[in-house]
Amino acid sequence: MQDREALESLVRRLPKAELHVHLEGTLEPELALRIAERNALSAPFPSVDAARAAYHFENLQSFLDVYYTMTDVLRTEQDFYDLTWAYLTNAATQNIRHVELFFDPQAHLSRGIPFGIFIAGILLALEDAETHLGVTSRLIMCFLRDQPVEDAARVLATAHLYRDRIAGVGLDSAEAGYPPQLFKDVFDQAAAYGMHRVAHAGEEGPPAYIAEAIDVLGAERIDHGVRCLEDPALVDRLVRERVPLTVCPLSNVRLRVVPSLADHPLKRMLDAGLLVTVNSDDPAYFGGYLVENYVEAALALRLTRDEIVTLVENSFTASFLSDEAKAAHIEAVRAAAALP
Ligand code: ADE
Ligand code: ZN
Repeated sequence: MQDREALESLVRRLPKAELHVHLEGTLEPELALRIAERNALSAPFPSVDAARAAYHFENLQSFLDVYYTMTDVLRTEQDFYDLTWAYLTNAATQNIRHVELFFDPQAHLSRGIPFGIFIAGILLALEDAETHLGVTSRLIMCFLRDQPVEDAARVLATAHLYRDRIAGVGLDSAEAGYPPQLFKDVFDQAAAYGMHRVAHAGEEGPPAYIAEAIDVLGAERIDHGVRCLEDPALVDRLVRERVPLTVCPLSNVRLRVVPSLADHPLKRMLDAGLLVTVNSDDPAYFGGYLVENYVEAALALRLTRDEIVTLVENSFTASFLSDEAKAAHIEAVRAAAALP
C-alpha cells in the first residue's frame, strides 16, 4: 500500500496490541516539564523545543543517557499514574486494545523512590485504562543489564510481593558487552515464581545473544532481534519454534541500528516466515507511536495490505493473553480488515 491516507486509515481501524513499549520512554517533554515544576525540580531542559531538538542519538547508549535524565523528574505515585495514563489514553485513540508495558524499577529505586510508590501509580492507571478505556494490559518488569546482577535479584524479591500484578520479567538497557547469561539465576527465579520471561537481544548485540536469551534465560519472546538475519541457522530455528520478535522500526532508525527505514529488515523478516510484530519502544523519543511505526515502515518497505494485517494479527498471537482472548481479538482484526 502506497497511499498514505488509505494506509493510515487501515492501520488506525485495525485493533492492535503493543508488546514492546517502555513506560519511561513515553514521557513527553511537555509532561516532564509539568511534573518537574510541581515537584519543584529544575527542568531537565530549558523548553519543550530544546528537548526535542536534542533528541538526536548516535547509538543506544547516547539515547539511554537522555532517557535516564528525563526519568529523574518522576518522584510521586501521581507522577507515575499521570505518565501511565497519558500513554494509555493515547494508545486508546490509536485503537490499541492490549498493551504489554515495560518499566525499569532500578531506574527509580536507584534514585530513592520506593517500589511501592511507582508500582501503585502504574497499577492504578492500568486498572483505570481497563475500566474506562477497555484497554487490557500486562506489566513486564525489566532488569537493567548494565547494572549489577545482585540489584536485579533484590528487585525480583521485592516484586514477588506484587506477583499477581506483574506478569513477567525482561532485560533492557545497554546490550553490547552484557550477555544474557549474566542473568541466568535471576531469570530462573522468575520462572520459579511463574513469571513470563522476555529479553532485548540482537538490537546492538550479536545474534548469539538471541539464542542465549532463549536457551539460557528461557525467553519466550525476543525484543528487537533484528540482527538474527546475520545467522541463517538462527532464523530457521526462530521460524521453526515460532519465537516472536518485537520489532521497533522508528527506534532502530533513530538509534542507528539500521541506516534508514528503507533498509529496515522488517520485510525480510516477514519474508523469512518469522513471527514479527511492530512496536514503538520509546515513542516520546523516536518520532512516533504505534500507528506511525506501522505507517512509516509500510510506506518505506512497500508492505502489502495482507502483510500489514499479518503484523497486526501477530501482535495478538505473540501476546501473553489467553488463547480465547487472542482468538477474539484476531477475529476482530479480520472483521475490521474486511471493511472497504
Ligand atoms: N530501554 C529503553 N529503550 C531501550 C532499548 N531500545 N533498548 C534497550 N533498552 C532500552
Ligand atoms: Zn526496548
